Amino acid sequence: MAFTLPDLPYAMDALAPHMSKETLEFHYGKHHKTYVDKLNGLAEGTPYAGMKLEEVITTSREKKDGKIFNNAAQIWNHTFFWNGLTPKGGTPSSSLETKLSGSFGSVDDFKKQFTDTAVNTFGSGWAWLVNDGGTLKLTSTSNAETPLGSGQTPLLTCDVWEHAYYIDYRNARPKFLEAFWNLVNWEQIEKNLG
Ligand code: FE2
Repeated sequence: MAFTLPDLPYAMDALAPHMSKETLEFHYGKHHKTYVDKLNGLAEGTPYAGMKLEEVITTSREKKDGKIFNNAAQIWNHTFFWNGLTPKGGTPSSSLETKLSGSFGSVDDFKKQFTDTAVNTFGSGWAWLVNDGGTLKLTSTSNAETPLGSGQTPLLTCDVWEHAYYIDYRNARPKFLEAFWNLVNWEQIEKNLG
């Protein structure tokens, strides 16, 4: 069974003007798709071809199969990223607000600290809100690395690879983060919290 590129939960132009159709055409249509194509090529004829994506990630991490890991983790991270965005935007429910305030001070403090984590992630990587044994925490990972399988449950992520923002914001990662907050799917964070 081949790995597939999951459908986006919205149209390619639905996140504009915060994230343009052209960005999605490249970021989803080319970058995300390339990770899928590469993983299919690398996994062919190996035990990885019969595994679920999550299993590929944990197994290749353990076996230090770097190329497999990088492509598999990037597929998973991108799908998680897209699912964490919505054209509807909005604000957190009062119960999520209480949880975020308990961990970070207030929703605004959470947004500020998450933004700092994202902006200060060195080079290519990801900023994450995770559930770490009942405590909400912020973390950042380099390149394709993901909290998945590390004992932390991912709740929200922002892709801070330059390919996520160079079309709309050139090299201005902070401007991309400002736009990101218009698109965050707060309901999805609650679903991920379980
Ligand atoms: Fe990306």
